[in-house]
Amino acid sequence: MEHSGVGRSFYVAGAFGKANKKISSPLRYFCFFSMTSQEIRTKFLEFFKHRGHAVVPSSSLIPDDPSVLLTTAGMQQFKKYYTGEADALKDFGSKNTVSIQKSFRTSDIDEVGDESHLTFFEMLGNFSFGGSTKKDAITYAYEFITKILSIPISYVTVFEGSHGVAKDEESKKIWNDLGVTDVREEGINDVFWGPTGTSGPCGPTTEIYCRSGEGQDIEIWNLVFNEFFYPGSREELLEQTQGKELQKLSQSGLDTGMGFERLVMLVQRTPTIYETDLFASLMALLPDSLDMRTRRILSDHSRAVCFLISDGVVPSNKERGYILRRLMRRIITHEYLAEGAVNMRLFFEAVLKNYSEWYPELNGSLIAAEWNKEKEKFLRSLSKGLKELGKLQSVSASAAFKLYESYGLPYEIIKELGGEKTETLQRREFEEEFKKHQDISRAGLEKKFGGHGLLVDTGELKAANQEELGIVTRLHTATHILHYALRAVLGESVHQAGSDITVERTRFDFTFERKLIKDEIRQIEDIANDIVKKDVPVSYKELSKEDAEKTGALFFFKEKYPDRVKVYYIGNSLEDAVSKEFCGGPHVTHTGEIGTLKIIKEEACSAGVRRIRATLF
Ligand code: SER
Repeated sequence: MEHSGVGRSFYVAGAFGKANKKISSPLRYFCFFSMTSQEIRTKFLEFFKHRGHAVVPSSSLIPDDPSVLLTTAGMQQFKKYYTGEADALKDFGSKNTVSIQKSFRTSDIDEVGDESHLTFFEMLGNFSFGGSTKKDAITYAYEFITKILSIPISYVTVFEGSHGVAKDEESKKIWNDLGVTDVREEGINDVFWGPTGTSGPCGPTTEIYCRSGEGQDIEIWNLVFNEFFYPGSREELLEQTQGKELQKLSQSGLDTGMGFERLVMLVQRTPTIYETDLFASLMALLPDSLDMRTRRILSDHSRAVCFLISDGVVPSNKERGYILRRLMRRIITHEYLAEGAVNMRLFFEAVLKNYSEWYPELNGSLIAAEWNKEKEKFLRSLSKGLKELGKLQSVSASAAFKLYESYGLPYEIIKELGGEKTETLQRREFEEEFKKHQDISRAGLEKKFGGHGLLVDTGELKAANQEELGIVTRLHTATHILHYALRAVLGESVHQAGSDITVERTRFDFTFERKLIKDEIRQIEDIANDIVKKDVPVSYKELSKEDAEKTGALFFFKEKYPDRVKVYYIGNSLEDAVSKEFCGGPHVTHTGEIGTLKIIKEEACSAGVRRIRATLF
């Protein structure tokens, strides 16, 4: 079972056959649903609540876990409870929890438009950290599916045993005792789950398959028995890398995940997810003149955009911001090509209407503001870009990247509108071009910062000339100090969720649950200004990523860093520095250069994330 592969875990590619062409309006289904999606959500939570599970709200799409860009599964917010670093009983009053988690998987972006693939989706899950037994977990899943939702189970899978882990006879017997006799044994690739690309809790799974309205058996629920911890990546586990062995966790855990949209499709007996009540009102806003695939893409992407922006993601050319930008630009292009027949504002309103009750963090004005900004920016170059694309005979990866670089056309649009010309164009090659370019501009930035620079854009900070560079550099070091001071006052659970520096101010987003009180703001300013007054040296050390992590330096997305990274530290030595962060710079050489820091605004940014603006004078 792949961590990031919705395709594998929940949305099996092409598993549904074709959508029923006779059905002209999704609203047709809308009227006859025996159970609404809202009712299914409530029933799920109630079911587990009655069985002693604490209901935990969805965590943000921006995860605490630096190993992934976006939250891809319900278990992510609970990682520390599996390993024993945190105590669920203390934090939730129970060793068992249940949640409906906002999730996002980029791995399926090219598949969106078919019957069932999505970028943003909700995941229903129940979790246990030394609470429920295997028997409880399987029995609960069986009861919920067959009794509460009245869906028959077609068959289930269990782990056949390998890599030093025994065959899961226990699960097989439990299923048999419940009357499920079609129990299929599968291997490590399919029924052994662990996060990809990083170490973490893992273990054998049992998966439940049910028959769709189209007569296909589809995977509906994945129950992972987190019995192990693996100190390496999934790839290393599969290759049985020497020196990296599965370690038995001191307490067994449970992590289950059920893709909500696909479950609703099963309950409401619709041919695809787009006729369910989750999507019907969105699809109804789109004219028939658009082909089905485009309508589905717009529905999927508009939901994703609303949730990402509301959780604090801002369109940019990097990481999460780049994902959001691509989704937004794909919508903008279709809106542009539809010449007034599509109004995305109505779309966003519909998303808010459908979801606000469940996700109060959805922020209509923030969505509108980011949308308008991005649209204005992209429309300046879109028509030129499309013209250029039209002129090309065939589109190589480097030509595609040029279109992105010069006109902002995202890969998806080039591929989609380029038709035959892009037949050989591969996403992987495009991303390689992208990476090459990033490496070059990073190197260029370092050169410029050597003294001759004029225009700087690191993603985090921007400067048009030398004077501005001086200001944003001071603000950049101030931002590291602010980060330190926030953690000193509010606790170590505070993590950077984003930062943006202009000549006017630094804007810093961080994880924290509530508004800061005046006294805390004053303390934060005092701590920061104390560091400034002491005129502490600021330096960096270049280290291998591994060594850099060992220094205890704060970092963002572990897997995205190059093999060698710079750790900027504020202090006389790396060992006794007050602040250490993985960072590309630039920074001042002594904190005395900064000036006095003043927090000018503190506000909510998204669920669990606060935003501070600060200036220097
Ligand atoms: N974490 C598992 C998955 O994503 C089950 O929740 O499939």
